[in-house]
Amino acid sequence: MKVFQTKKSLQAYLNESRALNKKIGLVPTMGALHLGHTSLIEQAKHVNDIVVCSIFVNPTQFNDPKDLEKYPRTLEADIALLEDVDCDVLFNPSVEEIYDNNEKWYLDIGDLEFILEGKFRPGHYQGVMQVVYKLFDIVKPANAYFGQKDYQQFLVISKMVDLTRMEIKLTICPIVRESDGLAMSSRNRHLTAYDHELAIVLSRTLNWVKENFYKKSIDALLEEAKLLISSNPNIVFEYFEVVDGLTLKPANHQTEKVVALVAAKVGNTRLIDNILIK
Ligand code: PAJ
Repeated sequence: MKVFQTKKSLQAYLNESRALNKKIGLVPTMGALHLGHTSLIEQAKHVNDIVVCSIFVNPTQFNDPKDLEKYPRTLEADIALLEDVDCDVLFNPSVEEIYDNNEKWYLDIGDLEFILEGKFRPGHYQGVMQVVYKLFDIVKPANAYFGQKDYQQFLVISKMVDLTRMEIKLTICPIVRESDGLAMSSRNRHLTAYDHELAIVLSRTLNWVKENFYKKSIDALLEEAKLLISSNPNIVFEYFEVVDGLTLKPANHQTEKVVALVAAKVGNTRLIDNILIK
């Protein structure tokens, strides 16, 4: 695997490949890689000649400085995992390589920025768009891959690509889970064994809501889901919503595409998860 730290060296390499008509796929990440991340790389390998994985812990998307500080950084293990799945290129820039001082970014994506995650993490999606726009502009991939794990993030990035008229095909890939159902996440490293046990309630509740979707009213489902998740004092419930999968506005039984999304703090770790109901 080739590893680049600068835009210039990466672009020189990619320009040569592009001249040979090679198709480039990009998988943006913040590192602390796990099988969820490598599933995106494997998916990208099927349709691209060169797969670039970026590892960049993006400061502008962290609304809590403590969260940024404690974000896991495991570059050596990440490189080993990327080599295992035959990733072609790693782009691992410094903060200075990506951002000039006091750089500004704002793109109006309407409500999508402020609901669900946006309500609990003000500014987060502007930071995500800012860095993904830069990565797209540097790598200029034909395809880019994101996980359903961050469902709202995929909609935000799709909207950004539409609004900025970038010609990049986006693919959303299924959530990879531990055998007990917990969605894989870089943040799971912060969970104690006890927290991990507790955290399973999130995926269990999502599954329960899916199984009971046609048996109860949505209000009843939401109430029960909140109770299930809040029943342990070490879990701080943030939201559980059943929404239209395209707009993220509240769904009803007739809505064509329905997604249930959850966020909660387990111990000191904030977790999110979701499930496609139909
Ligand atoms: P990060 O949390 O590292 O995730 C990188 C990509 O991996 C995202 O598209 C995410 O949805 C996907 N992913 C994470 N866990 C997954 C799982 N269990 N199954 C499938 N896919 C999973 O998301 C970010 O980084 C950043 O916001 C980023 C887009 C890189 C911008 O900084």
